[in-house]
Order: sequence, then structure tokens, then C-alpha cells
Amino acid sequence: MVMASLNRRQFIGLGVAAGVASCFPAPAQIVRGANERIRLGSISCGGRANELLGGFAPMPEVDIVALCDPDSSRVESTKKRFEKAKTFSDPRALLDDKDIDAVIVATCDHWHCLGAIWAMEAGKDVYVEKPLAHSIWEGRQTVAAARKYKRVCQVGMQQRSDKMQAEIKKFLHEEKALGKIFAARVNHYSPRNPIGKRATPMEFPKNVDKNLWLGPAADLPIYRDKLQYDWHWDWNTGTGEMGNWGVHVLDDCRNNVLLDSLAFPKRVFAGGSRSGYNDAGETPNIHFVYFDAGEIPVVLGLSTLAMKGSKSAGDRQGPGSGYVAFCEGGTLEGQRGSAKALDKDGKVIKTFKGDSGQRDHQRNFVEAVLAQDPTMLNAEVEIGKATSEWCNLANIAFRCGKTMTRDDAARVAEAGASAGKPWQDILASAEKTLRTNGISMIDSEVKVSPTMTFDGDKCQFVGEMAEMGNSFLKREYRAPFVVPEIV
Ligand SMILES: NC(=O)c1ccc[n+]([C@@H]2O[C@H](COP(=O)([O-])OP(=O)(O)OC[C@H]3O[C@@H](n4cnc5c(N)ncnc54)[C@H](O)[C@@H]3O)[C@@H](O)[C@H]2O)c1
Repeated sequence: MVMASLNRRQFIGLGVAAGVASCFPAPAQIVRGANERIRLGSISCGGRANELLGGFAPMPEVDIVALCDPDSSRVESTKKRFEKAKTFSDPRALLDDKDIDAVIVATCDHWHCLGAIWAMEAGKDVYVEKPLAHSIWEGRQTVAAARKYKRVCQVGMQQRSDKMQAEIKKFLHEEKALGKIFAARVNHYSPRNPIGKRATPMEFPKNVDKNLWLGPAADLPIYRDKLQYDWHWDWNTGTGEMGNWGVHVLDDCRNNVLLDSLAFPKRVFAGGSRSGYNDAGETPNIHFVYFDAGEIPVVLGLSTLAMKGSKSAGDRQGPGSGYVAFCEGGTLEGQRGSAKALDKDGKVIKTFKGDSGQRDHQRNFVEAVLAQDPTMLNAEVEIGKATSEWCNLANIAFRCGKTMTRDDAARVAEAGASAGKPWQDILASAEKTLRTNGISMIDSEVKVSPTMTFDGDKCQFVGEMAEMGNSFLKREYRAPFVVPEIV
């Protein structure tokens, strides 16, 4: 189901089904500035914010009027591109400005929800980067805020705006060209370098306001070399590769294979490790996940650890970064910008050509803001929340893991059996990549969780490991940077 094709009633139903109050304003209720222009501010002057600004700036309806980042050197360099824009270090000051209609939130992950909620509370529409949320609880508050303050909120899952996705869905679900789908796998196998490990904590760069950069995150010593970007690999501020690339490829799978039919999986288990890097990062560089998604089990393999002596981050079936739908009559392999259908003998029978969706995604946001109609969005916050939540669950399961024993290995193989060969392939790939790096899957640093049951309607884990799982659903916020409960 494409979001844009949902009518208002279906869309509201989706929100209610996911346990979130939905009450969209009729577009006419909202009064916009007379000139129908969008005065846009950016909360962040980082790498991604600059890319987004480059996409919005040429649009005739958009004026870039404000830039904000606690890193003054980044504000200065971005200001060179947008000389007329006001500059800020504190997002609260930017949000107090009544002459701003909408904002980009492209900060580190730990700031996404608080930035988006504050912005919507201040009456701004929001384009917030993926993953929507650092934790499941705050993602849900962000959806609730969009409803409460009646704002347009798009999440940066731009592949949703690639027109190719509609063709793939037609092929798989309307024409049923490959027959019944019985399983899906999601891949991201792409090497990354370690981020270093200091003996003493990093001194915060003088050009960065530490209090504002940390915001909701705990004030902990940082042992990596670089403050910016590498926050991805620290649980305090990031969500790992799962929330970085994992969220994009999983989103394509949820969109094209599952048709967004499931807001959250019923059960999840995961394993993996951060091996072979010897660095200050915490998030896994090998991560394997089984999602119980009902009729179509979804398995996910992620690796940023290169096999020793190779540039590959692991053997796998399907694209290095993409997804595979396993069907009675063959497979559909999709990735950003392209897809192909193969018959049972592996012969390509159809190809699909798209693009990243980036330009259309930003355009889609602008049009929805001008119309004041969130139902027009291709990645409305409810959708963005759902895919982010799957990633949050995969990370929680990893963090609940315990050293993998021989007994666990048998249990893991069996527990994913409903996904069949794709699951065995993911495990075999992880095992091989680790082995080439001199690490064993069992009795070493590799961890695995039990099968964890998530009652998404109540937003809580039940059963085995529930207490530990629940401890990761909501972070401790560093006052005054506290995500409010939206009622
Ligand atoms: N959709 C996509 O394809 C895509 C691509 C790249 C990045 N992203 C996402 O964009 C986000 C940013 O990634 P990046 O690569 O630009 O990282 P980055 O480290 O280059 O930039 C993050 C910026 O946020 C700033 N920041 C921190 N606290 C802030 C605050 N309180 N107010 C304003 N700015 C603040 C930092 O100082 C930094 O400049 C990430 O969440 C990432 O996942 C999405």
C-alpha cells in the first residue's frame, strides 16, 4: 500500500491500529502565510543537512532562512552557501522564530525525536532524518506530537518516493507474477573501518557546544578520535548500522514485500558482535536478526566487517545492500534504484529501474506542507516510526544477547527455520566472516538473544528477557533535554 494512495480514512485507521491517537486536521483548518512560500530552517549543519539543503534550495517555493548547529565551524561553512540565513547554535532559539514555517532535523540520531517534537510544538512542519527514533518510546511520542499539533512530518526514507516501488508492488502483489511470497531477507554487507580507541577520553572540540550537542544523551567519556559522524557507533548517541543503512533496506522490504501490513513484528531474536575492530565503537559490525512477521518471516543479515584478505563484508544471496523476496516462482531482488525478478532457475525475467527517490521525496514534503496535508506524504511519521521500530527491536535483541554456546547455535538455527535457507545462509555468512578474522561463532565474543516477544500495542516485552528488553524501550534523558510524553 503506497502511503500517497491511502485515503484519509484508511490513513487514520493505520494510526489507530498502531495504538496512536490520529486526528488529522482538514487542510482548510490551517491558515498559511499569504504568499504560499515555505521558510525553511535546518536543525543541523552536518553532512546530511547540507545535502538536504542543496535539494530544497533550488525549489521555487522554498527559502532557506535559518541554520542551527552547536558546531560553530559547521554553521560558518554552511552559512557561506546561504548567506541570508540567520544562524543559531541552540535549536530552541531557532524554533522561537515565528518567521520559520518548517525545519529539517538532520542531527545525530539521539536528537531526532526531541528536535522534531519541539519543532511541531512550535508549529513548524518537519522533515526528520531516519531512523526516526533512538528508542521505541520516543518514536511513538513523535507520532503522537504530529497528531496533537496537526503537523506535516516526513521521515527521510527517500526510497519511498522512488516510483519504481509501485511497479514492484504491482508485479509482486497484483499480477502475482512470482506466485506466493514465503520469506524475505534483508541485506547490508559493506565494509567500514574501525573508529580508533584512545587511552584517554577525547577533549570536546572547542568549536562545539558540548551541552547542546549532547542534548538528551548522557555525559560520558568518549574514547574515539572523531566526535562527528562516528557517534553512529555509540549507543549513547547512535543506532549503529541497523539504524543507518539497515533502516533503508528494511523499509524497502516492509514497503514492497509486506505492504506495510505489520507495524511491528511479534517476536524477534538477534545475535552478532563487534569483532576484529578493537576500537571504541559499541554497535555490532556483524548482526543477524530473525523477525517473526507472521506469514512472511523476515531475516536480516548485516556486516561491516571485511573478510580477512578481502574487500567483501561477507558472502550472501542477493544485493550487497537490499532485499530478496522468496516466492514460489522465483525471487525478486531489490536495492536502491533498481530491482530484478529471477525465475526458479535464476534467469532474469524482468528488471526495474528507479533512482534514490531523493529529489521526489523532498518535493513530496514541500507539496504536503503547501497543502497542509500529511496524508500526501510518502514516508509520513507513522510509517517512519514503524520501520525505525523494527530496527530498534533488532538492536534491543542484540543488546540482550549472551555469549553464544553450542546449544544456542542449535537453537538459533532451529528458531529461524521457518525462514528456511535464507536464515541458514545469513548464519553461515556470519560464521565465515568471523572465522576468516580468527573468531569462532560459539564460546567467543559473539552474543545471541533468546526469542523475545514484543507486545507492540502495550509497548512492552513479555516473557523471556522481558525486563532487560523493557529497559531499552526508553532512554534516560539528560535534563532539560527530555522528550515529553505526548497525551
Ligand atoms: N536519508 C539518508 O539517505 C541519510 C543519509 C545520510 C545521513 N542520514 C541521517 O542524517 C543524520 C545526520 O547524519 P550526518 O551524516 O549528517 O552526520 P554528521 O555527524 O555529519 O552531522 C550531524 C550534525 O548534527 C549536529 N547536531 C548535534 N546536536 C545538534 C543540535 N542540538 N542542534 C543542531 N544540530 C546538532 C552535529 O553538530 C553535526 O553537525 C543521521 O541521523 C543519519 O542517519 C540520512
